[in-house]
Formats: sequence, C-alpha cells, structure tokens
Amino acid sequence: MKGIVLLGAPGAGKGTQAKLIASRYALPHISTGDILRANIKGGTELGKLAKSYIDAGKLVPDEVVVAIVKDRLSQPDCKEGFLLDGFPRTVVQAEALDKFATVTHAIDIEVDADEVVGRIAGRRMCACGESYHISTHPSQVCDKCGGALYQRDDDKEETVAARLEVYFAQTAPLIDYYAAKGVLRSVDGMKSVDEVFASIEKVLD
Ligand code: AP5
Ligand code: MG
Repeated sequence: MKGIVLLGAPGAGKGTQAKLIASRYALPHISTGDILRANIKGGTELGKLAKSYIDAGKLVPDEVVVAIVKDRLSQPDCKEGFLLDGFPRTVVQAEALDKFATVTHAIDIEVDADEVVGRIAGRRMCACGESYHISTHPSQVCDKCGGALYQRDDDKEETVAARLEVYFAQTAPLIDYYAAKGVLRSVDGMKSVDEVFASIEKVLD
C-alpha cells in the first residue's frame, strides 16, 4: 500500500510527475488544485468560495480542503493507495490527514525559486488537464485531445509572487514535519521531467 504526498513549490512539477506516477503505479491522482478549478468551472458554491482565494494566490481554508480530501480518500479506488498532489499544504492539513490516512512517502520536489517563476510563467494548460510550456514543452493545441491551450488565471506574475510567499510561510514547514516522521524523500526537481521521474521511481521501488 502506497500513500504518497507530493511536496514542492508552485511550479515545481508536482502535477507533471503525478501523472507519470499515477500511471506507473496505478494510483488515483488526487489534486486539490484540479478539484477546486473544476468547481470554479462548474460554478458550484465551493467554486465560488475557492475562486477568491485562488485568484489572490492565497490558500483555501484548511477545513474546506480537508473535507474534500477526506471524502475523496473514502472512495473505493483509494483502498489500495493514493497519490496526493497539492495536499497537505499546511501543518494543520497534515495533522488532519494523519487521522484518516497513512502517508508512506512524502516526496519533496526541490526546485530553485527562480526556476519555478519561469516554469509557471511559461505554462499553458488544456481543459483536459494536460499541461504544456512555451519553451520546454511547446504546442499549439493539446496533443491528447486537440483542445485550445490557455494560461491559468493564477499564473499571472503578481499572483505567482503571492503563491511563493504562501509556500515558504505555510507549506515548506511540512518538509520538517515529514522528515520527523521518517517518510520524507527529496528529489532534485531541476533536472528534466524524465530524470526527475527516474529519481522518484528509485524512491518508490
Ligand atoms: P495547485 O493547482 O496545487 O497549484 P500549485 O501548488 O501552485 O502548483 P502548480 O500546479 O502551479 O505547479 P506544479 O508543481 O503542479 O507544476 P506543473 O507540473 O504544472 O493550487 C492552486 C491553488 O489552489 C493554490 O494557490 C490554492 O489557492 C488552492 N489550493 C490547492 N490545494 C490547496 C490546499 N491543499 N489547501 C489550500 N488551498 C489549496 O509544472 C509547471 C510547469 O513546468 C509546466 O509548464 C510544466 O510543463 C513545466 N515542467 C514541469 N516539470 C519540468 C521539468 N522537470 N523541467 C522543465 N519544465 C518542467
Ligand atoms: Mg499542479
């Protein structure tokens, strides 16, 4: 049974690696950011609440995301393991998670702050969830579904600075939290997508 959480700054490559890990190890990929964006798109009450926080680069309140993840992990496809991307993001969330699931690996994707700014600024998304980059993974339309590519609202420069600040203040302390539990595994996120994935496979195999 693998209970994996992916740590790392905004733009570190959590979503990119999560897709590869989920397919290699047949685990459900649970991204709180994707769930919140789907709710914004669908115009739900949750989406309306989340939008104001996301657009400002702030975190959605702990109790809201904890409830989403608790519900998601209770579903049958999570019985054999799970892969969390973007959760937990605060110590309060990590403590809550420990009450209803077992984290066996906390993989921290380490990337310099300068690098993440470039990765986020150049990221382009498809509505199907695929992500591209204007220089490292360019495309006119989505290779998977032919959809149009767009920039995430919170990938504008002003918001990125706020997201990084929030990361260092509220999420980076999770590195010590999981180190103390003996489950932290750090990988060098400055390498290519394939090289980063190879390091993650080493950790998980
Ligand atoms: P979320 O969607 O989780 O965003 P994030 O953490 O800011 O992370 P990103 O999705 O921006 O980056 P990533 O690490 O997934 O990188 P990616 O693989 O795309 O959260 C968004 C918002 O939702 C939050 O700000 C918050 O408001 C809210 N939220 C979500 N979860 C929450 C929670 N638990 N609590 C409270 N609020 C929450 O890669 C980035 C780019 O780099 C891409 O273009 C990619 O192609 C490229 N790239 C990836 N890897 C490499 C590589 N090795 N080399 C070169 N380029 C690469
Ligand atoms: Mg992501």
